[in-house]
Amino acid sequence: MTRWNDGAEEVSAVSPDITDETNALPARYFTDPDVWEMEKEKIFSRYWVYAGHENCIPETGDYFTRTVGDKQVVVARDEDGDVRAFYNVCAHRGSKMVEDTPMTDPGNMGRIQCPYHLWTYDLDGDLRSTPRSFEEASLNPDLDDADVSGLDPDENGLMEVRTDDIGPLVFLNFADDPPLTLAEQAGKLKTRLESLPLSEYEHARRYVSEVECNWKTFGGNYSECDHCQANHQDWIRGIQLDESELEVNDYHWVLHYTHEEDVEDELRIHDEHEAQFHYFWPNFTVNMYGTADGYGTYIVDPIDEGRFQLIADYYFAESDLSEDEEEFVRTSRQLQEEDFELCERQYEGLRSGALGQGQLGPNEHTLHRFHRLAQEAYDA
Ligand code: FES
Ligand SMILES: [Fe+2]
Repeated sequence: MTRWNDGAEEVSAVSPDITDETNALPARYFTDPDVWEMEKEKIFSRYWVYAGHENCIPETGDYFTRTVGDKQVVVARDEDGDVRAFYNVCAHRGSKMVEDTPMTDPGNMGRIQCPYHLWTYDLDGDLRSTPRSFEEASLNPDLDDADVSGLDPDENGLMEVRTDDIGPLVFLNFADDPPLTLAEQAGKLKTRLESLPLSEYEHARRYVSEVECNWKTFGGNYSECDHCQANHQDWIRGIQLDESELEVNDYHWVLHYTHEEDVEDELRIHDEHEAQFHYFWPNFTVNMYGTADGYGTYIVDPIDEGRFQLIADYYFAESDLSEDEEEFVRTSRQLQEEDFELCERQYEGLRSGALGQGQLGPNEHTLHRFHRLAQEAYDA
């Protein structure tokens, strides 16, 4: 038997050194439902994950919901103008309170009210009011009104989830005691993004796609461009792939591409003739284009071990796109669809169980970083 079909029992942890044979994440970590259960805790409840763009909720009471694994939060602008996040779970008996509301079609509310028994909360999460039946004991023959002390608004408020931001990008952390601050996790990505006028650009397009593969399959695909020449003819027109550079940081990696021609670009998101594609662990990307004056983000949202949703957002100087920008988005969308096909095909192979553990090449060091971070999270 050759090495690669030794079977799942023979595999080893991802080696710290890329030159070792066991340098890829074993296949079962992409296909096993128990691994996805583990990832909900060890990855998505420990690291900072992207919530959404704060420009989508500019006014007091504006809100959207965001689902991460089994958890859903309501992200809202409070009376002081701060963005806060609360579990979308009522403190009374745990009902989900507000309907799913994407940031691209945000809602507005004066207070957060649970439709089940009408407990009502302020935008800072404190319990504001309950119906009279909760304050008057008279319906229970064993009690007098005097026996009922009333509910402390703070003690009976909504459960808040920690938030922090990088420019206008809002992130969440579900851990009681996060292992890293957002600044530590983002490192120089934070400095780089905060030096750019990201807030001045408007949300223009969102595409949501459901794809039949593990979320890490797509994360890996995003992290390398060795497949581009063979699979993205329209996308790579004008890109000098040989001159691309890969930069690896602790929790993010960047693919720098050189373009033959430069764009008129007010944002100056990149050095001349350059595009930058940032993958931020665990499931977010920031795309600085070389051929359009704007930026984009991807959220690589797992649904379960075998499916994820790609949420692709595009930001331009104006939300009404020029013809060139329309064409740019069309090509980007085509690139995504090409990648979905590649990833689904790879996933079919992984699911067959023939491959115990893949083998990364020496230039797949961004991918190796990704696999190492997964391994480190599982081992933590
Ligand atoms: S569960 Fe929300 S008011 Fe009862
Ligand atoms: Fe691709």
